[in-house]
Amino acid sequence: MNILGIETSCDETAAAVVSDGMRVRSHVVATSLKEHARFGGIIPEIASRRQIESIYLVVSQALKKAKMAWGTIGAIAVTTKPGLIGSLLVGVAFARALAYATGKPLVEVDHIQAHWYACFLRKANDKSPLPQLPAVGLVVSGGHTSLFDIKDFNRVKLLGQTRDDAAGESFDKVARLLNLGYPGGPAIDRLAKEGVNQQIRFPRAQLENSYDFSFSGLKTAVLYYTRQHKNFSVPQVAYAFQDSVISVLTAKAMRACQRKKAKSLLVGGGVAANSALRLSLQQAANRLHISLYLPPMVFCLDNAAMVAGLAYRDKRIEG
Ligand code: KG4
Ligand code: ZN
Repeated sequence: MNILGIETSCDETAAAVVSDGMRVRSHVVATSLKEHARFGGIIPEIASRRQIESIYLVVSQALKKAKMAWGTIGAIAVTTKPGLIGSLLVGVAFARALAYATGKPLVEVDHIQAHWYACFLRKANDKSPLPQLPAVGLVVSGGHTSLFDIKDFNRVKLLGQTRDDAAGESFDKVARLLNLGYPGGPAIDRLAKEGVNQQIRFPRAQLENSYDFSFSGLKTAVLYYTRQHKNFSVPQVAYAFQDSVISVLTAKAMRACQRKKAKSLLVGGGVAANSALRLSLQQAANRLHISLYLPPMVFCLDNAAMVAGLAYRDKRIEG
């Protein structure tokens, strides 16, 4: 079945056509990210206005690129939560109108679940194996840090989440403190490579016996360090901060995999683009003989292919 997916939860307006929950026929993303950069974070009012301007064009392009007539689309999928309400509303209203006008079923999709599902997406000629279940899902984005126990597509349990800042949010806040611009993840990733050191060690909030995360204390520790050391090295601080985030994410994800006897670890969200995190997860997964899945960059970030893909696993569609 071909599903048209629509994603408008934040600053991206995205549409995609995916066949049978995995083959990506087309995917189009428009983003207003650059317009928010000078404010150091997403401005919801700007984001939702750009959504309204882009939605029609993005959906039309996705259908055109997939070379699929309306008659071949079996269902429409849309992100309904979580996200910025003004942005979500644009996609939901558009998808509902489409479903109403065409008589096709509408599937509501959770954005965070869609992020780990991105590990199942495959381009046309990609024959690489699909992840095996049970799996653990680690979603690390600008707004979320969550661990899931995935027994099967309709039996997913939240194991833990951040109690304060999301992982990406902490990259963005520390980058701001270091004057590295917004979004901060890519800049810290780059600089940290030049600042490898063991002298600076920031706290690691392990929160014993819990799968929850906490990153706000780390951000404060970085702030105090930069106040106390006037001539600090930006790359070294970037490295030490990143090392703290990565070690906590890796340790908790691996503990979840062991305890839940997971065959695969499925990682998604913008922070999954981080080169040191990818390496750390790969090394740990190899040690425990767990298959690690990291989507290509375009599917780590917000996109509609993951939404169309996950919708296919909805009981009403798949059954
Ligand atoms: O998933 P995403 O596009 O948006 C949300 O749904 O939140 O993730 C964006 C986040 C930002 O916080 C950004 O700083 C972070 O992902 N990010 C990175 C990297 N690339 C993007 N964080 C660390 N290292 C990177 N290379
Ligand atoms: Zn996201």
